[in-house]
Amino acid sequence: MKVLVATKDLAVFDALQGIDGLEIDRALFTGQIYDALPGSRLVVVDFDDLVEHPYSVGMLRGVLSDSDVPFVSSEEFLAEPDSWLAEARRMSGDATDLPTKRTVAFVSYSGGVGKTILAMDTAAHFVRRCKLPACVLEFSYGESALAARVDQEIPALFELATQPNVEAHKWNGVTLVPMDYDNSRDLSIQLLGKYLKDIMREHVLTVIDSHWPHALIGAVRDEIDRWYVVGTPRPDAMDNAEKLAAELGPKAVILLNQKGGIGDSIALQGIQRALEIGVEKEPDRFTGKLGKKVLMHTYGEATWGQFEELTFMEKWRRRRVPKTKR
Ligand SMILES: Nc1ncnc2c1ncn2[C@@H]1O[C@H](COP(=O)(O)OP(=O)(O)O)[C@@H](O)[C@H]1O
Ligand SMILES: [Mg+2]
Repeated sequence: MKVLVATKDLAVFDALQGIDGLEIDRALFTGQIYDALPGSRLVVVDFDDLVEHPYSVGMLRGVLSDSDVPFVSSEEFLAEPDSWLAEARRMSGDATDLPTKRTVAFVSYSGGVGKTILAMDTAAHFVRRCKLPACVLEFSYGESALAARVDQEIPALFELATQPNVEAHKWNGVTLVPMDYDNSRDLSIQLLGKYLKDIMREHVLTVIDSHWPHALIGAVRDEIDRWYVVGTPRPDAMDNAEKLAAELGPKAVILLNQKGGIGDSIALQGIQRALEIGVEKEPDRFTGKLGKKVLMHTYGEATWGQFEELTFMEKWRRRRVPKTKR
């Protein structure tokens, strides 16, 4: 059985020496702990010892609290190691992997292709299925389309980045950071980058909704793992998408949104696209139909498929329930 040890306290390693059937995993980076969590039966962790990369300690503590894996400080563990190991043995072994940290961006030269809808549905569906934190960061000009989708006044980037006590709005569990360009343009890229990277450390999935080009995108550009260049079946829109994908380089793929019938398929022959999303009747109900397709592509069908079958939390819970014959 695997015990995850995340402390500088060597006495913990001494206490675990020579016990049969123990596999000890060491980790001090928050990301290593997150990655090693599935399959661990016990975590001995001193939060003060951790290196906050790529997650904050607060974010990791939240994930641990939501999981069923017992976690304990070195001091508590050393006071009664045998009972903690007995507790660990009561857990069963297998659990699904956790989704890896990702930053994906929806971009296009033109408006109205579906960036905002896709960004929101992707983040909301991620939270729905994984019960792990996700955020949407907007890079737009003029009025925030992201804020407009929420039926109330919510804080935007300038206020969030300059006033430490103002908290970002949560929508369906998703942290929203709308852009108010007329104010935020006065902030330095460094300051914005620092604020936005702090936000990203609190979330497993970051979704960026960006007009292209955008004067402030440099604040997060290096963090982006995948660019979805969004196009619609209009020929000029797909031409533009091809140009932008080429400009953004190997991390960019084309997402064809609002694909209609057979006519569209013929008109779009020869245009490379990594995924297609059809016309939905009520995309602004955010049922996850659009987001699921994106997440299947981002994480791969096999990996994301597991989360579609059963939520991560359900899986964690199930492994404790003894198997009974039906
Ligand atoms: N797959 C889809 N099916 C049907 N309508 C869509 C789809 N994607 C986007 N839309 C609609 O297209 C319009 C523009 O979408 P939006 O996300 O605001 O675009 P952008 O952010 O690129 O300007 C919205 O009214 C939205 O509801
Ligand atoms: Mg938009």
